[in-house]
Amino acid sequence: MPNAIATVILAAGQGTRMKSDLPKVLHRLGGEPMVSYPIRLATELGSDQIVVVVGHGGDQVEAFTKQSFGDQIRFVTQETQEGTGHATRVGMTGVDDDFAGRVLILYGDVPLLTRATVQAMSDRMDETGEKIGLITTELENPFGYGRIVREDGLVRRIVEEKDATDEERKIREVNAGIYLVEAAFLRSALARLSNDNAQGEYYLTDIVGFAIGDGLTVGTVLAPPEEVRGANRRSELAELAAMLRRRINTAHMDAGVSIVDPERTYIGDRVTIGRDTTIEPGVHLRGDTKIGKGCHIDAGCVVTDAVVEDGVRINPYSVLEEATVRNDATIGPFTRLRPKADIGEGARVGNFVEIKKTKLAKGAKANHLAYLGDAVVGEKANVGAGTITCNYDGYGKHLTEIGDGVFVGSNSTLVAPVKLGAGAYIGAGSTITDEVGQDDLALGRGRQVNKQGRAAQVRADAKKRSGK
Ligand code: UD1
Ligand code: CA
Repeated sequence: MPNAIATVILAAGQGTRMKSDLPKVLHRLGGEPMVSYPIRLATELGSDQIVVVVGHGGDQVEAFTKQSFGDQIRFVTQETQEGTGHATRVGMTGVDDDFAGRVLILYGDVPLLTRATVQAMSDRMDETGEKIGLITTELENPFGYGRIVREDGLVRRIVEEKDATDEERKIREVNAGIYLVEAAFLRSALARLSNDNAQGEYYLTDIVGFAIGDGLTVGTVLAPPEEVRGANRRSELAELAAMLRRRINTAHMDAGVSIVDPERTYIGDRVTIGRDTTIEPGVHLRGDTKIGKGCHIDAGCVVTDAVVEDGVRINPYSVLEEATVRNDATIGPFTRLRPKADIGEGARVGNFVEIKKTKLAKGAKANHLAYLGDAVVGEKANVGAGTITCNYDGYGKHLTEIGDGVFVGSNSTLVAPVKLGAGAYIGAGSTITDEVGQDDLALGRGRQVNKQGRAAQVRADAKKRSGK
């Protein structure tokens, strides 16, 4: 496979300017650590080997990456940070020796690069036969970047800010630091690097000069500046996050989603949303959340790794995590759905209701102030205000089964394991410890006693006690 891709992600830099104990590439934007973006880009491009070069905090980066992407990512440690060329050399030790395709070099702290841009580079190389390609951009203020030096329109070399002449510093076309290079040429070029320059570093950029020396042509693709921006400090990270937000929200709006205030709506880039869904301000949709068509997600909701089907209404300030909400159900305001909550079609869950590992069947209701954990609730059952499933006895979790059409009176406690048969009716304030049969009425509370006219006596006693 001549066009196979191996990706090397440079992520060993200290990130001093983040002023953080956390490695720079683990700082988040759009709900994901920065390093997730180049890894996902590499995956989407079909890389068959992905190597992350780590240094400072490498263990943490590796732990996060393994957890999110599994074992297919390889790690190599650059013990001392001696420059991008050195880092790439170290990175190549993680690529199979007999790999003969193209190596894509990415930075761990450049999250907004798109697949389209890298694809354009790759297509160009297919067409021209170029063995080395780099992505450039034009900046108003190119300070700090490597400048692309061209003669007769062709790239001759890259010169770093600190090594550049005044004339070269005026060049506005800069090196983004993203390269696609044939493995054989890359290996030979890396072997030739020296650190004889103003910073005493091994510059990866020198491979461009070597290519020219070898009589090769260097291809370039010009990318929009935002795609190649890196984050060195937290304020820059926030700016990148805003750009990412704009990009993601615009794509959803173009696909038929209404976003009332896109500057204040936070949608992760793996989230999917159906058309004619409306999202109000302050909503966070995170992780692998999937929202269906024609839903209304009202202000302040936080939804993580949840599946919401079509026509669902989620009223303000509800929090959902790893929950499923089926067609036409209504949630909130102020509902909390925890992992494995499964809310059936047309069901209704109201304010201050917490649900965990519980399946509500079609048309079931729990409208106010309840806790349902480890339970199944039948079709059209009505769970009254203040109902609590006592699912935990201090040792294990137990199941509460509520049959179809059951009515659970307000303020009932259902001590699990317990089963309420279909059509049963539970009197308000009951504590239910034993199975209730189908269509039975259960009353589990003290019987009410009325004493005629005794109120006056009670008041007199109380007055006396208080000495008035
Ligand atoms: C580099 C380029 C410059 C380009 C700029 C774009 C070189 C010599 N210069 O600048 O032309 O305009 O990127 O941002 O390549 N890293 C390591 N190990 C190291 C050094 C760096 O892993 O020893 C990683 C960093 O974590 C970062 C990336 O490489 O992800 C770039 O490092 P940085 O120091 O920001 O780039 P420069 O060398 O300043
Ligand atoms: Ca540097």
